[in-house]
Amino acid sequence: MSDQTLSNLLKEDRRFEPPADLAADANLKEEAYERARGDREAFWAEQAERLSWEQPWDRVLDWDDPPFAKWFVGGRLNAAYNCVDRHVEAGRGDQVAIHWVGEPVDDARDLTYQQLQDEVSQAANTLTELGVQTGDRVAIYMPMIPEAVVAMLACARIGAPHTVVFGGFSSDALASRLVDCEAKAVITADGGYRRGAPSALKPAVDEARAKASSQGHDVAKVLVVQRTGQDVEWDADVDVWWHESVGQASTEHTPEAFDSEHPLFVMYTSGTTGKPKGILHTTGGYLTGSAYTHWAVFDLKPETDVYWCTADIGWITGHSYIVYGPLANGVTQVLYEGTPDSPERGRWWKIIQDLKVSIFYTAPTAIRSFMKQGQEIPDQFDMSSLRVLGSVGEPINPEAYVWYRHVIGKDKAPVVDTWWQTETGSIMISPLPGVTHGKPGSAMIPIPGVEAEVVTEEGEAVPNGSGGYLVLTEPWPSMLRTIWGDDNRFKETYWSRYAKQGFYFAGDGAKKDDDGDLWVLGRVDDVMNVSGHRLSTTEIESALVSHPKVAEAAVVGAKDEDTGQAVCAFVILRDEAGDGGEDIVAELRTHVRKEIGPIATPRQIMVVPELPKTRSGKIMRRLLRDVAENREVGDVTTLADSSVMDLISSKQSGGG
Ligand code: WTA
Repeated sequence: MSDQTLSNLLKEDRRFEPPADLAADANLKEEAYERARGDREAFWAEQAERLSWEQPWDRVLDWDDPPFAKWFVGGRLNAAYNCVDRHVEAGRGDQVAIHWVGEPVDDARDLTYQQLQDEVSQAANTLTELGVQTGDRVAIYMPMIPEAVVAMLACARIGAPHTVVFGGFSSDALASRLVDCEAKAVITADGGYRRGAPSALKPAVDEARAKASSQGHDVAKVLVVQRTGQDVEWDADVDVWWHESVGQASTEHTPEAFDSEHPLFVMYTSGTTGKPKGILHTTGGYLTGSAYTHWAVFDLKPETDVYWCTADIGWITGHSYIVYGPLANGVTQVLYEGTPDSPERGRWWKIIQDLKVSIFYTAPTAIRSFMKQGQEIPDQFDMSSLRVLGSVGEPINPEAYVWYRHVIGKDKAPVVDTWWQTETGSIMISPLPGVTHGKPGSAMIPIPGVEAEVVTEEGEAVPNGSGGYLVLTEPWPSMLRTIWGDDNRFKETYWSRYAKQGFYFAGDGAKKDDDGDLWVLGRVDDVMNVSGHRLSTTEIESALVSHPKVAEAAVVGAKDEDTGQAVCAFVILRDEAGDGGEDIVAELRTHVRKEIGPIATPRQIMVVPELPKTRSGKIMRRLLRDVAENREVGDVTTLADSSVMDLISSKQSGGG
C-alpha cells in the first residue's frame, strides 16, 4: 500500500456522531462489543433466542471439523413459521407485512401477516401436491411481486431449499443453475413490469427447461403466476397456473420443524472461474444472523418502523434483508416491483413519502445516479420519516455518502455502510447507528459477535494506517456451509489461503485507518499495481467523483509497458456540467493528482455517456479494461444494457 494511498484516505476526516435520540433508545449499546468478545458463543445463543425453536439446541457451535461448521446443533425450527405464523399467534395478524408497490402507478396491494400466512400455507400445500418433497430443490425466477416472497417461504415451510435466480438473468444462466442443483420445480410468472412495459419471463423458463433436459436434467413442474397477462406457451404435462392451484388450495398447513442445519437455500454467485458457485445456507444459523443483524444494524423497532430495502430478491440482499431478516423480526416493509425512475425520476422518493418509510437500504450505484440527476428531485418530497439509511454492495464514495446523508437523510438520519457478502449471509462490518460514529466511506468495525482483521500476505494483522486483505477470524452463524456439490472448491476458495490461521478469506482488500476503523477497498482483483504502488480503483473513482463536474467514474488498471499497469478512467459528467469544456480531461487529471498524488494520475480519461453495469448494478471493469487495452470488447451478455459498450466504443473511435 503506497503512502500516498493512505495519506489520501486520512484526508477524509469528517465524522458524524450518532443522533442523540437514536443513541438514547438504541437496541444495542456500546457494551455489546465487549460482551460478545467475552463469550462469543453465549452472545450468539442469546441472538438465536429471537427465534422460536421447536426443540432447543444442545450445542451452540460444532467447529470440530473446520471449515465445516454446525450451529445450534440438535435444535429444530421452521423458518417460515418464524417469519409468519408466530407473529399471527402473537396477535399481530392484522399488521401489514408487505406494502407492495407495483411499477404501474396505483397497482398496489397490502398483505397482512395473516394473509401472508394463508398464502404461504396454500403455496406449501400446492408444492407438496406437485410432488415436491423435503430436500428437493426449487428454482424461483420471478419479478418483484408478493408471490415471490410467498414462494420462498413456502419452500422453506416444507424444507425444500430454494434457489432464486435473478429475473434479469438469461435462460442460459437459469439452465446452468437448474442443472447444477437439479431443481425439481421452477416457480415463475408470465412476466413482470420494467420501465413501464411488461417484460416476459416464462419463455426463458421454457428455454432453460429444454436446455437442462438436453444436459440430462428434467424439471418436473413449472408453477406460473399470472402477472402481466401476456401470452405464454403451455405444456400441460409440466406447467401449472398459480391461481388455479395455489389460489384453490387449503389455507391450513402445519409447518414441520427441521434440523438447524437443514439446507434453506442455494444462492449462486460469480467466482473467479466461469462456473457460478452455489452458496449453501442452512436454517438456524442463517436465520439467527439475518434477524439479529437486521435488528441491530438498522436499530429496528418492529412495531413502529416502516422498512424498505430496494434490492431484488434474486440477490443475497433480498434474501437476508427483504425476506428472512425483516419477516423474522415482524416488521412492516415496502416491496417495489420496478425501476427507480419509472414513470418519473422521483418515484422512490414518492414511495418513501407516501408510505412514511423510516429505514431505507440501497446501493451506492443508485445513490450516485440520483446525485447525477440533482438534488431538486428528492427535494420535492417530504422524507422526514427517514431515521436510518443503509448502503450495501460496493464501497460508497465519501461524496455519495455525504450526499445521501444530507439530501435524503436531511443530516438527521445516519448512514450505515454495511459490508458483507453472499457467503457471509448477513452483515459483518457496519457502524451501529445509535452507538458508532460514522465516517464517509468507512464501514467502520465488525458488529458485535463478528471478528474481522486486515492481514498481510502471510496472515499477520497489519498495523493501523496500513492496508491488506480482509479476513474473518472466527466462525459466525450465517456463514456459508459449503459450495453446493463442491466441498473442495469451498475449502480452496475461502479457507486455503490462510489455512494455518483458520481465517476466512473474503477476497476484498481493506485498510485500517489510524483509529483502527476499516475501509473496504473492493475486490483484490480490482487493486492495481502502478510502478510497484498498490492503488485502489475505488479510491481513484472517489477522487474523480469528488470533482464538481463528475457524476460517476470507473477506473481500471490497463497493461502499460512502463509502469506495469496504468490507471484508465471512464467518467460520466453531471448534467449541469454539459460537455465539461475542452480542458476537461486535463482538469480531471490535475484533480486526481491533487487528491491522491502523481502516481494515481490517470494515463487516460474518457468522458462517456454510460458505464457498463451488470443487472445488479456492478460495473463490469473487465469490459472497460478491454477498451483501455484496445482489445475487442468481450462477452457483454450479463450487462443490464448491452448497447452501452457500443456507445463507449464509438466515443473512443470518435476521439472522446
Ligand atoms: C462488495 C452483497 C465495500 C465486496 C451483499 C464484497 C462492499 C462483495 C460492501 C460481495 C461495502 C459489499 N463496502 N464493498 N459496504 N458491500 N461489497 O456477494 O467486494 O453480491 O466482497 O454481496 O461486494 O458481493 P455480494
